[in-house]
Amino acid sequence: MTYDDKTLARLADDAAAIISRYPVPRSALLPLLHLVQAEDGFVSPQGIAFCADQLDLTAAEVSAVATFYTQFKRRPNGEYQVGVCTNTLCAIMGGDEIYREVSEHLGVGHDETTPDGKVTLERLECNAACDYAPVMMVNWEFFDNQTPASAKQVVDDLRAGKDVAPSRGPAKVCTFKEVSRVLAGFEDGRAHEDQGMGEPTLAGLNVAKDQGWKEGGK
Ligand code: FES
Repeated sequence: MTYDDKTLARLADDAAAIISRYPVPRSALLPLLHLVQAEDGFVSPQGIAFCADQLDLTAAEVSAVATFYTQFKRRPNGEYQVGVCTNTLCAIMGGDEIYREVSEHLGVGHDETTPDGKVTLERLECNAACDYAPVMMVNWEFFDNQTPASAKQVVDDLRAGKDVAPSRGPAKVCTFKEVSRVLAGFEDGRAHEDQGMGEPTLAGLNVAKDQGWKEGGK
């Protein structure tokens, strides 16, 4: 299976724009893999062939990279990638319970997709958001200080097609294909919607300021 001529021409234009950002074409492989995920919803066989062709690599070389990173999906992914952090801090703050309840609620396990194609569930390692534990991510946007009830509400709203707002990101989460295109290097014009750091992240800095501590302990 390969892309039709129109799709191929469009993807080739996008690939040329990506490749032009790098001194060596093969360095563009990761964004190209995101580009084919934006097209197909996963790294498809035709997507692998496309990347290999654009970068003068073998399909085996492209597959070797695609299988290394969990962000690249080898079978059709859900519209929303829902990751529950079950690493140490989130786990003891309730992440294990959230994962278990959401998994039971959806009827799917790790790296499985709901039959309606809406949600792919996964256990996540630490997202460096421990100050908001337990956290969940939807297409890599943060949902902070979750509970089993709030997490189940998020997945229910996503499956119902409602707009769902993350805790610290844009006004609504985008789809897996949309976020894949951004990761390929094509901005969606929504970076200004980011809400920056919240109070828990700044807590240590504020204590240091209140105490008059300076860099280097002086
Ligand atoms: S342990 Fe969950 S974000 Fe760090």
